[in-house]
Amino acid sequence: MNFDLSEEQIAVQAAARDFAQTELLPGVIERDTEQKFPTDQIKKMGALGFMGMMVDPKYNGGGMDTISYVLAMEEISKIDASVSVCMSVNNSLVCWGLETFGTEAQKEKYLKRLATGEAIGAFCLSEPEAGSDATSQRTTAEDKGDYYLLNGTKNWITNGKSASVYIVIAQTDAAKRHKGINALIVERGMDGFVVGKKEDKMGIRGSDTHSLMFTDVKVPKENRIGEDGFGFTFAMTTLNGGRIGIASQALGIAAGAYELAVKYAKERKAFGKHLTEHQSIQFKLADMATKIDSARRLIWKAAYLKDQKKNFVKAAAMAKLYASQIAQEVTSEAVQIHGGYGYVKEFHVERLMRDAKITQIYEGTTEIQKMVISRELLR
Ligand code: CAA
Repeated sequence: MNFDLSEEQIAVQAAARDFAQTELLPGVIERDTEQKFPTDQIKKMGALGFMGMMVDPKYNGGGMDTISYVLAMEEISKIDASVSVCMSVNNSLVCWGLETFGTEAQKEKYLKRLATGEAIGAFCLSEPEAGSDATSQRTTAEDKGDYYLLNGTKNWITNGKSASVYIVIAQTDAAKRHKGINALIVERGMDGFVVGKKEDKMGIRGSDTHSLMFTDVKVPKENRIGEDGFGFTFAMTTLNGGRIGIASQALGIAAGAYELAVKYAKERKAFGKHLTEHQSIQFKLADMATKIDSARRLIWKAAYLKDQKKNFVKAAAMAKLYASQIAQEVTSEAVQIHGGYGYVKEFHVERLMRDAKITQIYEGTTEIQKMVISRELLR
């Protein structure tokens, strides 16, 4: 077994770290406070190849492996999780889903633009009454011959306003339950498609999370991904991969908070000595580092299995379950080590603590990960 990264992977990691420090750190507090979407930053990330990292170069992607992707996700998330959620949805859910299951025409028309960041993608599954229970889709895609008539509402959609390509999951034949669901590519500007309310969130405040409304939107049949009725399997399969991205986001949030805590503990003195000389702080840092490294191993294993084209469903759910849990613990300890300074914005750890929570909610809650893991264990 070899835990060494390749030269290429190390270079990707260094490039992402450098980008995060120079381009993301300067405005991160302002974007969080003002709920400002990182438009310019995402554009630059597209130009650097971070928006379609695993996409085949023939569709303008970076042709990289999943390990490179999780390394970049970790580095970006250490500084700005609002940016990394946009990156994760675009790479893992939209680009990967289209490249794996889309037609050649769909790849030409949509994937090529998504892979460069020229277009941003959104993945629209959640509804007011179907978050975890994804089979209970109320949005309908009525088959009208050469098009689907789309009606319904989606909630909590990441990149809701900034996207221009939306993959929408909708029910075509309710009697068939999950086998009657389709995944449709909807473009911004189609008649009857309206971007609704922006959510005022606890964390990842720089990302734009919106509700979306569809009223008699005519979606051409050629925009369906896969065979008729493939939509639920499409959603579940892409989410398996998406969970590796969100696990890396959780890891990055935890690692970012840990690095800040170490820096602060080395500088700050209390009771006549540096915090690092107090055993209570040393033990906290040891626990934090152990949790972070354990999460990283689970994530790398899931990424490795995916790259090897082996079953990574359980590994991805375990990685997301554990990384999102330790992100709560590590960020909370980082705030604790900072004391009063940790509770104010300029020291960054309070934001990381707020950002950590969403990783236990989106792309399947903690409870959903346990359902996925136990299904795989007991099947
Ligand atoms: N991978 C592949 N297929 C899966 C799967 C998985 N992880 N989980 C279920 N399936 C398949 C099953 O095999 C079954 O297919 P067959 O009948 O062909 O065998 C089908 O899906 C239905 O399975 P179940 O009867 O078990 O379905 P269920 O209704 O009991 O629930 C679930 C399954 C795992 C709970 C699923 O509903 C789920 O994952 N829910 C969470 C959805 C989610 O993650 N939402 C997040 C929204 S997206 C988001 O957050 C993006 C963002 O903005 C950041």
